[in-house]
Amino acid sequence: MNDLKTVNDASAKPVRTLPDAQTVTEVTHWTDRLFSFRVSRPQSLRFRSGEFVMIGLLGENGKPLLRAYSIASPSWDEELEFYSIKVPDGPLTSKLQHIQPGDQIILRPKPVGTLVLDALLPGKRLWFLATGTGIAPFASLMRDPETYEKYNQVIMMHTCREKAELEYGRQLVESLADDPLIGEFVGDKLKYYPTTTREESDRMGRITDNLSSGKVFEDLGIPPMDKDHDRAMVCGSLAFNVDVKAVLESFGLREGANSEPQEYVVEKAFVGDGI
Ligand code: FAD
Ligand code: A2P
Repeated sequence: MNDLKTVNDASAKPVRTLPDAQTVTEVTHWTDRLFSFRVSRPQSLRFRSGEFVMIGLLGENGKPLLRAYSIASPSWDEELEFYSIKVPDGPLTSKLQHIQPGDQIILRPKPVGTLVLDALLPGKRLWFLATGTGIAPFASLMRDPETYEKYNQVIMMHTCREKAELEYGRQLVESLADDPLIGEFVGDKLKYYPTTTREESDRMGRITDNLSSGKVFEDLGIPPMDKDHDRAMVCGSLAFNVDVKAVLESFGLREGANSEPQEYVVEKAFVGDGI
């Protein structure tokens, strides 16, 4: 087993005493830009499905280099799962992408975030709207029995440029029906609507367009969104979030927060692109 190392020096002195170190148990590479991994869970960590924490490695200067990460596993899981981008020159992910089982990462056990069931008023249908790694908080919420206790129907819309980028979400959704722990809660309540925008696939188009045109309602054979029954959670790039908000508002939904639940909530999947 390897101890926690600095991000750029595999031979650096191990830091056995770091209080927030957790051990990597599993790593899966999905594409050259995407991977997921599981780590041990601090015994004291309680979180609400959909929240994020700060995780990272030791930086060159010996100080922690931390980034926000949505916890992709549900709150009942004994371990924690994360779904990550690999940014070629990214300070953290250019190194994090090389972790292996037995390695250690830093995890600050202070979960926060707006993508929690408590931040929404009661409703009948719950929409998860995500692009790219924005599916991570919903990977948690899709595996939480409370999601299905509170809603009659849950619709996961996930859009990426290419098919391979949908694979983590697809395999997760497909595993749920037969899952011994969560399967009976999911039943036939979960509808999955993956689309690509730059590679030919069975379903195509941006989430914003498929909602505005009504295509997703037609394809799934369900009534259009309305503010009395529909609730939504949004997680993608800032541009995506801004555009989806406008679409949701056009259906009459209003943005909520932990302190003031409404019909939809939003979180950034990452900060960047000059924003
Ligand atoms: P950074 O210097 O942080 O980023 C460099 C550039 O890469 C950014 O400017 C941006 O253009 C791009 N970028 C960063 N993250 C992403 C991404 N996820 N998808 C596409 N482009 C990106 N990242 C995850 O991979 N998984 C998560 O679950 C996740 N949850 C987050 C939750 C919140 C609330 C926030 C604010 C960010 C989250 N991020 C997540 C982004 C994460 O914090 C880091 O930005 C990412 O790990 C890259 O770190 P870095 O140091 O390598 O590069
Ligand atoms: P598109 O290929 O049409 O830009 P990215 O990799 O750039 O973060 O994009 C991830 C996915 O989100 C892509 O399928 C992209 O579609 C889509 N997307 C990007 N920006 C928006 C937006 N403003 N509204 C809706 N979808 C978006």
